Amino acid sequence: MDIEKGEYSHFMMKEINEQPSVIRRIIGKYFDENGEIKKISSRIFKEIEKSDRIYIIGAGTSMNAGFIGKEMFEKMAGIPCEVHIASEFAYNIPILTEKPLFMFISQSGETADLRAVLVNVKAKGYRTLTITNVRTSTLAREADNYVEIHAGPEIAVASTKAYTAQIAILSILAYMVSDKHIDLRKELSKVAISIENIIDKKDYIEDLVKEYLTKRNCFYIGRGIDYYACLESSLKLKEISYIQTEGFAAGELKHGTIALIEEGTPVIAIISQRSISKNTRSNLNEVQSRGAATLVISTKAVKEAGDQIVVDDVYELFSPILTIIPAQFIAYYAALQRGYDIDKPRNLAKSVTVE
Ligand code: M6R
Repeated sequence: MDIEKGEYSHFMMKEINEQPSVIRRIIGKYFDENGEIKKISSRIFKEIEKSDRIYIIGAGTSMNAGFIGKEMFEKMAGIPCEVHIASEFAYNIPILTEKPLFMFISQSGETADLRAVLVNVKAKGYRTLTITNVRTSTLAREADNYVEIHAGPEIAVASTKAYTAQIAILSILAYMVSDKHIDLRKELSKVAISIENIIDKKDYIEDLVKEYLTKRNCFYIGRGIDYYACLESSLKLKEISYIQTEGFAAGELKHGTIALIEEGTPVIAIISQRSISKNTRSNLNEVQSRGAATLVISTKAVKEAGDQIVVDDVYELFSPILTIIPAQFIAYYAALQRGYDIDKPRNLAKSVTVE
């Protein structure tokens, strides 16, 4: 049964391990055997295509998936896209374009901060689409349209498989309105295999956590989509291990944050993009020379000697689906080694239904 732990000691570990099959389920649900997209209505296609700007609204992990979605809509489909924190947007709406489309990303479909925005923008007559794991949820019912992510029940408070599923769905929506210059079905299939390759290395990642995650703080650094992956990586780590951690745009370090680096401060860099890998490397050197204990998650294309975790090369916009897997394990093992309640971290609820 999906809602039992089975052979796993925690739901989070089970859900991390389910990610290859979730990606394959999404491929099965949304692609036919010729690689054409199915089961997403032409109404949704038209609404995305005719919008002059997409406004992605989310919270926590779902918002972090939204940042990758923004890159996909802009780079694959040429549609401008903004990502907003739901609780901020609800009461401080920016100047909108003429034909906005609002996309609400929510695993549970019940997050009150998002609903406040949905009610507000619907009252103004704007079109809305919810991307959710729960088709019977409030946000699915109340939006004009919804798309299901098919991640299966996610029980651990720390969201893992919903994040990768949300990114996969966002890629399908962006691809649908793009010039289709890649074979998305094939690229997603490669991603599923590459996730398995990382899962095979989880014991090694556990050892790295023992060696590197020894302090009460930790920094994730990256640029571009790697920066967005850092935001999600640090959210995962802090919410279950209680290590104080943030994701930083690597280039911003020298504008203040580098002052916090001391002898042995753990700094994890995510490096997957050829165009900016050298820049992140130079930021990494800066923290290293100030005593940081650095750990690198890179892709084969940009790896350098000494990188501790190297993941496969995939279509570049999919690299966050891969680089997040070691980060999920890092969070899991850091919490395990500290003896915390991994599936139910303190002060947090799975579904946040109050504003
Ligand atoms: O159900 P939602 O996706 O709307 O939830 C949003 C956040 O509350 C959620 O992603 C939260 O940040 C997770 N605990 C992160 O692991």
